Amino acid sequence: MTQKIRKAVFPAAGMGTRFLPATKAMPKEMLCLVDKPLIQYGVEEAVAAGCTEIIIVTGRGKSTMEDHFDSSPELEASLAAKHKTALLELARSVSKLAKITYTRQPHPLGLGHAVLMAKELVGNEPFAVLLPDDIVDATIPCMKQMVEAFNEAQAANGEMSSILGSEIVEGAAIQNYGCLDCTPDPKNPRLLTVKDLVEKPKPKDAPSQNAIIGRYILTPRIFDMLEHITPGAGGELQLTDGIKALLQHEKVYGFVYEGKRHDAGDKQGFLRATVELALKHKDLGPAFRTWLKSYPL
Ligand code: G1P
Repeated sequence: MTQKIRKAVFPAAGMGTRFLPATKAMPKEMLCLVDKPLIQYGVEEAVAAGCTEIIIVTGRGKSTMEDHFDSSPELEASLAAKHKTALLELARSVSKLAKITYTRQPHPLGLGHAVLMAKELVGNEPFAVLLPDDIVDATIPCMKQMVEAFNEAQAANGEMSSILGSEIVEGAAIQNYGCLDCTPDPKNPRLLTVKDLVEKPKPKDAPSQNAIIGRYILTPRIFDMLEHITPGAGGELQLTDGIKALLQHEKVYGFVYEGKRHDAGDKQGFLRATVELALKHKDLGPAFRTWLKSYPL
């Protein structure tokens, strides 16, 4: 029986220290990129990939995220009374995106631990994981590309396999990522057969320049693995180590997606994403482009 990807997990319990002071009292996932919060980009991508259930792993001080995806009766009544139909539709559409549930990570023990918190809500089925800091600008949404790769691999192998979004990074930058020891599939060079993984290697120890990006499709066996991992890089329970353990039981693939990723969890990356996405925005873009061209750099 083929398994569909219906659920997407968003680890969103981190403290956002790279973005202080903005994130002192506000979740970094709610930072506004052009005209919507970071996490909404990821949720829209998961929905475009066919996910109908969104599971957000939160922590203390993250309640504005819940308000954002909830209906807002006062706002809607006020917009309706003023006949602001377009704005009313915009406000309503956010709360209708998907069924969203929340679970908490009580202590910031690492990404592997955050994903483990979703075990009961995910159950025994494969699922997507999207890290909200990674914004992927792509003609075909990145997770949709990955779901297609997951389905194809499942049809070819007769069993499901985890798929990790991947891209080549330059030089020493690999030390900021999970890194794949992998070989390209002879029939599909975008698909990488993973032999090993290492989280944040020193550049001289990195087996390749193939970084893992914040997009994953994981089989439910990952939860058994995550229950047994011990602290790894940075003293944290790493998702990469859970996936490495998965390799003992199942095939794991990397997938070189088509598109451009922005690390919006970093101040420089956020600024660049703001400019690029603003230029592409259908309403704001043209006037912003004119202004930017005239800006005395
Ligand atoms: C996490 C993962 C890492 C991955 C990265 C992608 O690291 O642990 O394997 O390459 O996300 O953004 P973080 O950026 O949370 O340190």
